[in-house]
Amino acid sequence: MGWCSCLSALSRGPRPWAGFCRGSWLSLLVYIVVGFGTLQAAPMPAAAEFSLPSLPYSANALEPAVDGRTMNIHHDRHHAAYVANLNAQIPSFPKLASLDLTTLQGSISKYPAAVRNNGGGHYNHSLFWTVMAPAGKGGKPSLTLTKAIKAGFGSQDAMQQQFNQAATSRFGSGWAWLIVKPDGTLAITSTANQDNPLMDLPGIERGTPILALDVWEHAYYLKYQNRRPEYISAWWDVVNWNDVNRRYAAAQSAKRV
Ligand SMILES: [Fe+2]
Repeated sequence: MGWCSCLSALSRGPRPWAGFCRGSWLSLLVYIVVGFGTLQAAPMPAAAEFSLPSLPYSANALEPAVDGRTMNIHHDRHHAAYVANLNAQIPSFPKLASLDLTTLQGSISKYPAAVRNNGGGHYNHSLFWTVMAPAGKGGKPSLTLTKAIKAGFGSQDAMQQQFNQAATSRFGSGWAWLIVKPDGTLAITSTANQDNPLMDLPGIERGTPILALDVWEHAYYLKYQNRRPEYISAWWDVVNWNDVNRRYAAAQSAKRV
């Protein structure tokens, strides 16, 4: 039974569609095709669940330690790509959409390299922007953090020297970290690529990051070329100790829970 015949059988009254039926099946076909095309062209709801945070200062605010052009490219292109590539994994791993970024790091071993690299890249850079501030605006280590640094390393200078060594000796691309270990003490460690100390992976010294330094060449090459130690030395001028203090206090509170 055809389309028009069905309508006829269902109604004994006037048949307003009769003209259409006489018009031709071609009209119906055009209607369906055009309608379907309209649906196809409609914007799809965004699948992205992770988003790129804005820099908490202008791109050139960290000069001269970190130049504005590097910051623009680093944030707007590199970090943005990690976010986009992580979101591209959500259709394959829908559970990602329900995980916050920090929680994801602790279960990263369940996912393939694309999630590890881009999820790590998103977390690491999100933290990195906040632990920097314009020179003279970052405050200084709190009394409690200073006490922990002295207990762990002997002095602030000794801690920074050990951190510098970790950052300088990281072969290829990676990060240097100051972390709070599960026992509450401080440690310095380094990870390759976009790995970080929260990840449940073998070979990683685990802890809560409170300070991080990106030693990928994309973080410094435009200004420093191959002079990574010079970049590391200048970077201490723009450490945001106020944020490091906050992260240390939060890590200590979490440990007491
Ligand atoms: Fe980076």
